[in-house]
Amino acid sequence: MEKFDKQAIDLTVQEELPFKHYWHNQFHLEMPRGLINDPNGLTVLNGEYHVFFQWNPLGVVHKNKCWAHTTTKDFINYATPQLALWPTDVHDKDGCYSGCGLVENNCVRVLYTCNSKDPNNIRTSAQRFGTLLNSGAVEKDEIIVSDNPPGYTAHFRDPNVFERHGKRYFVIGVQRKNETGTALVYEEQGEGEQWKNLGEIKTDLKDFGYMWECPGLVSFGEYDALIFSPQGLEEEEFQYQNIFQAGYIAGKFSLDSMEMMHGKFQELDKGFDFYAPQVFSNCDRNILLGWMGMPDKDDEYPTGDLGWKFSLTMPRVLELKQGHIFCQPAEELKALRKSERTLEGNGNEFIEQLAAGSESDLKIRLNDAKEVSVTLKYGAESTDITFDKATQSVTIDRTRMKLGGRGKRRFKLFADETLEVQLFVDRTAVEVFLQGGEETASFFVFPEQDIKPQLIISSDEPVNVEGKIYELGSITFK
Ligand code: FRU
Repeated sequence: MEKFDKQAIDLTVQEELPFKHYWHNQFHLEMPRGLINDPNGLTVLNGEYHVFFQWNPLGVVHKNKCWAHTTTKDFINYATPQLALWPTDVHDKDGCYSGCGLVENNCVRVLYTCNSKDPNNIRTSAQRFGTLLNSGAVEKDEIIVSDNPPGYTAHFRDPNVFERHGKRYFVIGVQRKNETGTALVYEEQGEGEQWKNLGEIKTDLKDFGYMWECPGLVSFGEYDALIFSPQGLEEEEFQYQNIFQAGYIAGKFSLDSMEMMHGKFQELDKGFDFYAPQVFSNCDRNILLGWMGMPDKDDEYPTGDLGWKFSLTMPRVLELKQGHIFCQPAEELKALRKSERTLEGNGNEFIEQLAAGSESDLKIRLNDAKEVSVTLKYGAESTDITFDKATQSVTIDRTRMKLGGRGKRRFKLFADETLEVQLFVDRTAVEVFLQGGEETASFFVFPEQDIKPQLIISSDEPVNVEGKIYELGSITFK
């Protein structure tokens, strides 16, 4: 068998769905086998969302980088994912790396990084277009930039197209020769010509990590945000606590001066497992998907032993308010709700049994409480999300889980009278939206036993809780 036999690979995915193991998620997009990472090629055509993502169909290691593809009209019913793009030639033999999606002449096109290494391990990164065919495969088209520009290393990847004044550009992550990260902008030229390098996006971030992966210039009306995933930031007390970060600078980008006026870099998610997010192009909302996972932490994910690794986040709708991006779960996800329960009362402890998939929308009036925890309890194991009023911070604590990644994450959150928590608990993937999406945190838990969690709200002084708890169903594949 050829290494990437589309028919055979697609068939195994079909045969392995629906998922069987209790660690497989219900409403997070993931694969029955192999390793997935970055969302790629996100675009919308004729009311259909096209979702591609990085996929190694042959194993649970970061190798054999291909693109998988699925479509959905409602983020609930998905087409069974297929192999769409895989290494075939000298340009991309060492991986079809991340890239974007766009619509051209009523077709879905992609622009991706061809990764290739010579016998001395010298890397070449070329940027190439492709067109999605009816067969479900991407036909490879022209290479529009054949190599990294002078002054930069071959860490030159993840192109993401945007339009300005009817012209097309892309932003791309790159490493300077002095091993600092930045993003370049390229401009489309005439037919058959290579795209032109317009230079770096000028920012105030002079020495900000050694590489910027997966940049995207996202428009919010008259403002812009540059979303990217910098590598190599130092951990701080309340931020940058993962090995790599994913966040944005918001402000205004001028193509004339190549300058980005912006506020401080802010992380898009403060959990353990969130990286390399991308926003859909050709869409009237800024909908983001992130990779739920983290590079170089392979032993934190016990599903590897069972033949698969990682998920994508739920679709999140972004809104820019006062220079800060708020994230809300897409409205469509309300269709997952099956049954509803109301939670109301005053006290120091509330205990609720959750279903295998659930959403809990809680408004907690703090009164005199100084500390409130929302705990997911799986028998003897537990994970806590604790708000501390004195430091105005949240700690996510997985130290009482047995399997998988553990440890703590801390971040700032302002709450005076009320703490708002919207908590999506899937079988292993958990997403928390705090204070109406002002902060979010995504992380996995791998309960040792197949038991449904209890939700426990506890506090040092009585609090008023008002909430709804929904049992959630599953996304489907057809
Ligand atoms: C981010 C990333 C990208 C690259 C891809 C390869 O997670 O390292 O920069 O294109 O993954 O899978």
